[in-house]
Amino acid sequence: MILEPIISEHEIKSRIDALVQDIVESMPSRKLTVVGLLKGSFMFMSDMVRALHNRDFHLIVDFMGVSSYGSGTTSTGEIKLIHDLSVPLQDSHILLIDDIMDTGNTIHFVLKYLMAKKPASLKTCVLLDKSERRIIDYKPDFIGFSVPNEFVVGYGLDYAHHHRELPYIATLTLEEEK
Ligand code: IMP
Ligand code: MG
Repeated sequence: MILEPIISEHEIKSRIDALVQDIVESMPSRKLTVVGLLKGSFMFMSDMVRALHNRDFHLIVDFMGVSSYGSGTTSTGEIKLIHDLSVPLQDSHILLIDDIMDTGNTIHFVLKYLMAKKPASLKTCVLLDKSERRIIDYKPDFIGFSVPNEFVVGYGLDYAHHHRELPYIATLTLEEEK
């Protein structure tokens, strides 16, 4: 298994500052409910909420868990809710945060679910966009980095439950693929 760093800790940090600047300029309210998708978004989420706090946002922080992948590198396409929200969302300004948008199936499922709660507004922010594999026609409002069609791990993203703890993003190549 080969791990090759592609986005450093420092690059992630500077990009988050720029993303939060975009959010400052385009969100209609300084009061946000930030919804993170477990587990992949946990590290990005914690850096984003601190950066938003530093720009005077007042936040409610919540998480949702959905399962899309098994333990491998290919999507099953079937999305299931495995951890529900714990705060009401009606009339709130939601910022949905995820680690990576790949086919778009996950975000599509979650957006439908969140829209049904009748929020005042709903925007999406993903750290990584692997747009080459998109099946659903949707572009997140805020995107950290575009990544090529390769499997990436670190900074919350896993391969078979491993590598989430890396502070940077790396591509993962299995030896047998080489
Ligand atoms: P989508 O439903 O195909 O857009 O996939 C989104 C979810 O699949 C993400 O939230 C990740 O959990 C997972 N995923 C997609 N691509 C990768 C990857 O390259 N590495 C790790 N997880 C991934
Ligand atoms: Mg995920």
